[in-house]
Amino acid sequence: MGTKKQQTRGLFITLEGVEGSGKSTQIRHLAKVLIHAGYRVLQTREPGGTSTAEAIRRILLTASSHERVTPQAEALLILAARCQHVTHVIRPALEYSTVVLCDRFSDSTFAYQGFGRDLDLKWLQAANTVATDGLTPHLTLVLDLPVSVGLARRRADRGQQNRLDRETERFHRKVRRGFLALAAKEPHRITIVNANRPAREVRDELTEIVVGWVARHHHRPRRTR
Ligand code: TMP
Repeated sequence: MGTKKQQTRGLFITLEGVEGSGKSTQIRHLAKVLIHAGYRVLQTREPGGTSTAEAIRRILLTASSHERVTPQAEALLILAARCQHVTHVIRPALEYSTVVLCDRFSDSTFAYQGFGRDLDLKWLQAANTVATDGLTPHLTLVLDLPVSVGLARRRADRGQQNRLDRETERFHRKVRRGFLALAAKEPHRITIVNANRPAREVRDELTEIVVGWVARHHHRPRRTR
């Protein structure tokens, strides 16, 4: 999408990965480091980030024993949440030269609903473009680890389990393959980071990649304090 819409003053960075990859912990650390370095930073997540999108998140992640959410309805709910998030939060922040760190974005939809749920990727891409108005991340980091390791981490923390965590291991393997396929298709935007090692090592590698990348790409390196 070489449209004007894609031109922003800020930087849009997304973290992606299968369940239990440690994204949420890592994103908090990245935000702290970037704020300390003097950048204006927004940390957010999907589905979520606005009150409407957070309400949709609750619908999506809470299992209903009465009514199965169809893959199509799941995708459309996620995209509705994304549309609210992009319009009301992400684009305004980017126009204000902010470094936006987002826990999941469009690549999760392609990996979970496309590869995982077998929805047509071309349809998903077209609908996603409507939802985002063509906004794509400038940099995406996929925290990669074997599905069995990620799910075991999640199971050890039962309070953290949601409707999608409880999907079969086969489903999550398809999702992981999806992320790896997306990374192979867009190597300039997507970097894979091995998350199957101690969190501190993952944190150090991520910090080095992100801080260096932001320093090279932000038009105005520091916020005046
Ligand atoms: P998380 O906060 O643990 O990442 O949970 C969000 C869940 O929502 C996770 O199971 C992945 C799922 N999800 C999708 O299926 N598609 C999407 O596009 C997004 C953003 C999340």
